[in-house]
Amino acid sequence: MELRVDKHVEFIKSLEKKKDFDSMVMEHLRMNGAYWGLTALDLMECREDVDDAKVISWLLQCKHDCGGFSGNIGHDPHILYTLSAVQILAIYDRMELLDSDKVASYIASLQQEDGSFAGDQWGEIDTRFSYIALCCLSLLKRLDVINVEKAVDYIASCKNFDGGFGSIPGGESHAGQIFCCVSALAIAGALHHIDKDLLGWWLCERQVKSGGLNGRPEKQPDVCYSWWVLSSLVTLDRVDWIDKEKLKTFILDCQDTEEGGISDRPNDAVDVFHTFFGVAGLSLLDYPGLKRIDAVYALPVDVVKRIFG
Ligand code: FPP
Ligand code: ZN
Repeated sequence: MELRVDKHVEFIKSLEKKKDFDSMVMEHLRMNGAYWGLTALDLMECREDVDDAKVISWLLQCKHDCGGFSGNIGHDPHILYTLSAVQILAIYDRMELLDSDKVASYIASLQQEDGSFAGDQWGEIDTRFSYIALCCLSLLKRLDVINVEKAVDYIASCKNFDGGFGSIPGGESHAGQIFCCVSALAIAGALHHIDKDLLGWWLCERQVKSGGLNGRPEKQPDVCYSWWVLSSLVTLDRVDWIDKEKLKTFILDCQDTEEGGISDRPNDAVDVFHTFFGVAGLSLLDYPGLKRIDAVYALPVDVVKRIFG
């Protein structure tokens, strides 16, 4: 089985035109969808047919006076969509379209006294938002606007006895949250808070018989964890602890070889989220013909190099 790049490119491009139930459900998080789709196309080196001007003009209409971005035009801003907007402009090499002072002050306004971050004005706290804040500000080179030390201390307070991290202090270890905490600590230069062997062991135990990875003990494997788990193992320098060939086969088995797209598990319905994380996982596994992805910023390595030199 090989990666069906042609089919996946067609699948991602077809989403643009669709107005069915799935795309309506997705409407409020279209900014995330655009990042998943565009980044997948970029990794497959097939971004050229997308109407860049149309994407950028739509993206700028999702910008709010507070400095944050929403998931679509007319929706409320949230830190989740703000990172996707910054990532999309980074891929396009159009970061100058951002008012970086404004974006930075929006993110800084979400930091709490204990160092944690809220996702928006309503105040939900989650280590996902700590990662997003650090990732966004690092890409904008504006980490100076927050208290990085407190942000790091808060993330460290979410560490569990098994070496993993949860969404808040005392929250169960979960691979998605671990990606956020490991990557945020990497950006802050604070990986010394992690016991790499202990966490590396927990992460490699996520591989099940089929070769796929799950996000927590006893859960089913899911293609998106090929990203959350694998990227963390790459950052911790423990990627050789899993069977890479078996994981590759699992991801390829989740392809719809007729209509294109990748699903969470073999024979399930495909979507753009799992298509992106499948391609991103294969990129981390050095799959031939794909561009390399950066495990921390979740952007193509050439984009990250362009920004940081
Ligand atoms: C699992 O979600 C994943 C997470 C909790 C991590 C989400 C991370 C972000 C939103 C940060 C931005 C990410 C990138 C790649 C730039 P789930 O709800 O599918 O979990 P479940 O499998 O337990 O349902
Ligand atoms: Zn999934």
